[in-house]
Amino acid sequence: MSKMKLYSGGEIPVEMHRVSIVRPIKLIPVDARLKALDAAGNCSYNLRSDEVFIDMVTDSGFNAMSDAQAGAFHVADFAYAGSDSYYKMADKIREILGKEYFLPVHQGRACENMLAKSFVKQGDLIPTNFHFCTFATQVSLCGGAVVEFLQDKGIVTGGDDGFKGDYDIEKLEKFLKETPGERIPFIRIEAGTNLIGGQPISMDNILAVSALAKKYGIKTLLDMSLAMDNIHFIKTRDEKRRNKSVREITRELADAVDIIYFSGRKLGFARGGGICMNDRDDFIRVRGFVSCFEGFPTFGGMSSAEMEVMRVGFDDTMNEDVISQGPDFIEYMVSEFIKRGVPVVTPAGGLGCHLDADRFCAHLGKKDFRAAALAAAIYVVSGVRGMERGLSSEKPEESIAPFELVRLAVPRRVYTLSHIMYVIDRVTWLYEHRDMIGAMRWEDESVEEHSFIDFLRPVDDWRERLAEEYKRAELE
Ligand code: F0G
Repeated sequence: MSKMKLYSGGEIPVEMHRVSIVRPIKLIPVDARLKALDAAGNCSYNLRSDEVFIDMVTDSGFNAMSDAQAGAFHVADFAYAGSDSYYKMADKIREILGKEYFLPVHQGRACENMLAKSFVKQGDLIPTNFHFCTFATQVSLCGGAVVEFLQDKGIVTGGDDGFKGDYDIEKLEKFLKETPGERIPFIRIEAGTNLIGGQPISMDNILAVSALAKKYGIKTLLDMSLAMDNIHFIKTRDEKRRNKSVREITRELADAVDIIYFSGRKLGFARGGGICMNDRDDFIRVRGFVSCFEGFPTFGGMSSAEMEVMRVGFDDTMNEDVISQGPDFIEYMVSEFIKRGVPVVTPAGGLGCHLDADRFCAHLGKKDFRAAALAAAIYVVSGVRGMERGLSSEKPEESIAPFELVRLAVPRRVYTLSHIMYVIDRVTWLYEHRDMIGAMRWEDESVEEHSFIDFLRPVDDWRERLAEEYKRAELE
C-alpha cells in the first residue's frame, strides 16, 4: 500500500523504497529540443537518451533494480552449460509459477519467436484477447494469424470497467466450435493488455478461457510480460481475491494455463525473457529451437548476471508494495489529468498513463498522425519522451489505427512524484494550447510500407510556433 492520506486533504502515492544509486538527468533548452526532433525525424524513438529529460517511452528494460538485485548481479555463474544461475532461476519458476521446465531467452519477442516456430504452421489461427505487435508478427512469419476476442468495453478509451482486457467468452466458444482444432495450436491470453492502454484481464475471465480450452482440447498460452500490474489489479479490483496474497494470485494465474512466457525486461526488472511449462514434450520441442536460435538452453542468450537479477526480481514482484508502485503513480497521473480536463484512457491501467490523442488533437484529421504529433509536441514543451501508439506504430498495413494514444510509460521505481508532477503540469499547458499542434506526414510518402521508426515531417512550422509560445510562458 503506497497510497498515503494527506492531512491537508486527498492522497498521494508514496515510494516504498529509498534511492541509493542515481543517474543525473538534464533538460536541454527548447531550441536544442527542436533540433533534436529534426535529427530524430520527429519520432521519439529516434531521440538519443541524453536529449531526453524524463524518459517515458517504455517500461521495458528500464525499471530500477533493488539493492538485492544489484548484489545478485555480481554472483553469477557464467558457465556455458549447466550454470548455477540457471538452476536457481528454474527453482524460482517452480516455486512461484509452479512450472517444471524453464527456458531462458534474450527477451520477450524471442519467446514468441521460439513458440511460433515450435507450434504454428501455415493457416493456423491463434485466438487472443488482443494482439501484441511482436507476437502477431512472429505468428504471421510462420504462416498463421491472430484472431482477437476482446470484449467491446476494451476497444473504447473511456469507461470505468476495471478489467477491459477480458475475452468475449461467447465469441470465443463460437469460434472454437466452428474452427477445426488442428488449426488452433493454442489460445493466447495477454495479462495485462499492452495495446489497449495496459488494461488488465480478470481472473474469472482467464479461468473461463482456460475451461473452454480444456473442453476443446487446446493448449493455453499466457503472456505474463505485464503480469505484475495485472496481479496488482486483481488484488485491488476483484472483491473475491482482495484477501489473497500476491503469491496466491500469481499461482492461480499460472495454474490456469499450460505455457507461460514473459519479457524479463518487464516482469522481473531485468533484461531477458523466459518460457515455462509442465509438459515435457513441449519443453523438448521448444528447447530445440532455443538452442538453435538463442543459445545453449541453460542461458538462452541471456547473461547469467541478468538471470540472477531476474530471479531476485521475481521475489521483489511477490511484494504488493513493489507491484503497486507503477499502477499507483499511473492512477495519480490519470486522476490529475481528469481534474484538468486532459483526455486519458480510463480507468488507469498498468505500464503507463495513456493520453487519448484523438480527443486531445480533435482539431486534426484521422490521417494527420495525431498521436505522433502530440508526442513530438510534448517533447518540445517538456523534454519528456512518450511513445506514439497510433498511425505510425500500429497495424501499419491499415491506413487508420483503431485509436491514437500517446503512452507516458512509468518505468518502475525510476521516477519520483516530482517528476510525475512536472509531466502533468507541462502536458496540461500543452492541452491548453492544443490548437497549436499541427499535422505530421511521412517524410517519404512514396514508400508503401512504413515502420514506427520512420521519419515524419510537420506540415508547416507549427512546432516552432509552439516553442515560441512556450518560451513566452517563461516556464524554463
Ligand atoms: N508481450 C508484451 C505484452 C509486451 O508488452 C512486450 C514488449 C513483449 C511481449 C515483447 O517483449 O520487448 O522483451 O521483446 N513491450 C515493449 C513495450 C516493447 O515497450 O511495451 P520484448
